[in-house]
Amino acid sequence: MRHLMSPLDFTTSELDALFDLACDIEKNPKKYAHVCDGKKLATCFYEPSTRTRLSFEAAMMNLGGNVLGFSEASSSSAAKGESVSDTIRVISCYADICAMRHPKEGAPMVAASKSGIPVINAGDGGHQHPTQTLTDLLTIRNLHGKLNNFTIGLCGDLKFGRTVHSLIRALLRYDNIHFVFISPDELRIPDYIIDELKEKNATYEEVIMLDDVIDKLDILYMTRVQRERFFNEEDYVRLKNFYILTKEKMDKAKETCIVMHPLPRVNEISVEVDDDPRASYFKQAQYGVYVRMALIMTLLELEVKDA
Ligand code: NCD
Repeated sequence: MRHLMSPLDFTTSELDALFDLACDIEKNPKKYAHVCDGKKLATCFYEPSTRTRLSFEAAMMNLGGNVLGFSEASSSSAAKGESVSDTIRVISCYADICAMRHPKEGAPMVAASKSGIPVINAGDGGHQHPTQTLTDLLTIRNLHGKLNNFTIGLCGDLKFGRTVHSLIRALLRYDNIHFVFISPDELRIPDYIIDELKEKNATYEEVIMLDDVIDKLDILYMTRVQRERFFNEEDYVRLKNFYILTKEKMDKAKETCIVMHPLPRVNEISVEVDDDPRASYFKQAQYGVYVRMALIMTLLELEVKDA
């Protein structure tokens, strides 16, 4: 039985197959409408979410399956003190696959070790967010045309942003990617990630001002300042509007630069940028459904035979 804890759980050729499947799903949705007939997905979310939980649920429904679950710890037995291990043992009797989000790093991994069904890490604390990374890689592959040879700027909360941590790890397996980390000092990328970059001989630079580098980026990945992971509100308030991507800033970016964001956005991308053809974040959210459909099929080992 296979789980998904980190984007590195799949080899790059397995990822290619997953992305090919996601693209076929996008083109031929009807072909996949009954692959999961009679199957159930449990969404166990101990932390808030809109996109991840609903895109998982939409993915399962698009495949003909059903969904059950909870969207906050307070409405589950966690509120009574039940452990994640016990919860997953029980859910294994009710569902065929489970997507779990938890504020504690490693909680989905603990669940997977006790689970009778595949578990997907839907975000664990500030650690990893593998299905967002699959979404991001599919977006880059489709809109940039390839997963190598580009300069990517990651901007905002690089300290607490788990989407950034997962994405960097995943990109380190592809060739000739230059990383530009754009953050205030307080929200710098963690040292353990810098160590991984060095180990892999990746090229990177760290800057504070987006204006200084925007013109050389092929991809600009904006992120929200992760308020819920701050120790005090004062720091959050001081840093929350550090970056605001505006039309004027976009004037300096390449014609071909794609702007991504895992969403939710707060103030870091001005809404006027949404009409720019380079703004790709809503498209990215749409790809998230196809890639999760492909992932559910892959982990449940389901196939559709071509007629
Ligand atoms: C992200 C997350 O939960 O880490 N959202 C998402 O899943 N698309 C990003 C964020 O909350 O800022």
